[in-house]
Amino acid sequence: MGYVGLSTALALTWTGHEVCGIEIDKRRLEGLRRGQAPFYEPGVEDLLARLGARLTFAGELSPETVRDADVIMITVGTPSRPDGAADLRSLDQVTAVLAGTLPPRGSAVVVNKSTAPVGTLDRIAEALPAGTPLATNPEFLRQGQALVDTLYPDRVVVGTHSAVAAERLRAIYAPILDGEVAPPPGLRAPRREARPYLVMDPRSAELAKYAANAFLALKISFINEMANVCEAVGADVDQVADVIGRDPRIGRQYLRAGIGYGGSCFPKDTRALHAIAGTSGYPFQLLKAVIEVNQLQAARVAKRLERALPGGLAGKRIAVLGLSFKPGTDDMREAPSLAIIADLVARGAEVRAHDPLVATKAPPPAVSAASVADAVDGADAVLVLTEWPEYVALTETDLVGMRGSLIFDGRNALDREAFPNMTYMGVGRAGRASVKAEAAATREDR
Ligand SMILES: NC(=O)c1ccc[n+]([C@@H]2O[C@H](COP(=O)([O-])OP(=O)(O)OC[C@H]3O[C@@H](n4cnc5c(N)ncnc54)[C@H](O)[C@@H]3O)[C@@H](O)[C@H]2O)c1
Repeated sequence: MGYVGLSTALALTWTGHEVCGIEIDKRRLEGLRRGQAPFYEPGVEDLLARLGARLTFAGELSPETVRDADVIMITVGTPSRPDGAADLRSLDQVTAVLAGTLPPRGSAVVVNKSTAPVGTLDRIAEALPAGTPLATNPEFLRQGQALVDTLYPDRVVVGTHSAVAAERLRAIYAPILDGEVAPPPGLRAPRREARPYLVMDPRSAELAKYAANAFLALKISFINEMANVCEAVGADVDQVADVIGRDPRIGRQYLRAGIGYGGSCFPKDTRALHAIAGTSGYPFQLLKAVIEVNQLQAARVAKRLERALPGGLAGKRIAVLGLSFKPGTDDMREAPSLAIIADLVARGAEVRAHDPLVATKAPPPAVSAASVADAVDGADAVLVLTEWPEYVALTETDLVGMRGSLIFDGRNALDREAFPNMTYMGVGRAGRASVKAEAAATREDR
């Protein structure tokens, strides 16, 4: 019952099914039974309250649940191992439980929704009773809009050799595929239109999920490198992105320069795809560069501040606004703020951090601030690292408590005109005056 499991459980219950959500973490399970989501996600707790007894929760998969199920979906985490490959321990654990519970020639379709390497469905098949209908059904939801994405997906992908599995899933997803689902209260439905149902072989479906995340990460790393070139030559990356983004072959989304991608998916999935290709004998060079560029992008922040602040970072007070890897979530997994704060502290800065949702989770020795005013009080520089709406709306008057006058906009999300008496630094938004300094700095960074 993580982001994918709970969102799927809620969406399927909302569209008329009876769902039992299994969660081994006792605290999460107890919370869910009281109507509390284990994470912040818009609309989730409201929907939990509304669905009542049609969605139940259990701590383990019982033989009765298995006997009655039309479909069993695996939605456990697949984090990175130290070597970058996907850690399949949770998935193997669930498969072992299923192997001990599923009857021979049972009718339940077993579906893997976790993002897992090519060949994972074969691995599951080997462990389960022969004849179990199987499918892989990768999930493409975005945190911060998980419910909307689950109810109104761009496509539903099913990788299977089983006609039974393909038809069962088509029936279960029918309301979603028709595009006619009424939005749960408080959520806005995007387009009411049919959604494509793409059935293919399992390996292609497994690879397609990684390809989707790798391509989005590539767009981000591309525009971040363009931003660095902009800083070197005195151009503005927002304008460059506007121009190329109007080409429908390119598209404007994921072309906002910043401090790099983070979160529970892009970093681990790019590493996993690199590992999958590598162990299969193909060195995926472009993806390696995407990953490296992302690391360098976060590392540039402290270096740029070191140069911009008179006397460098040692002894300076830095206010960090935004800890989560993007707005609309309290997820801190691989958030760029973590690496950036560690760099600032290593260079001798004192950091006070604020986030609207992860209020008390500033990584030590950074201190958690109770409000924006508290974070910026006495600060030499303010860094916006997550584009929460309340930070995007900031103006100079909100920062009167600072002792310095530098604002670093790590997401190119602020209105730079709102800080006329301050030094505004964006990413690839350098003005002409700083061309020489930024060009020299860019050479140094490489
Ligand atoms: N988070 C996203 O935005 C997203 C989007 C698309 C795909 N995915 C993929 O979906 C999968 C799940 O990701 P997530 O972010 O929802 O994970 P998560 O870490 O939020 O949740 C995983 C849940 O599974 C539970 N769990 C672990 N072992 C279990 C077991 N044996 N039985 C029952 N429950 C068990 C954990 O306690 C946890 O609550 C991953 O493979 C991820 O890559 C995630």
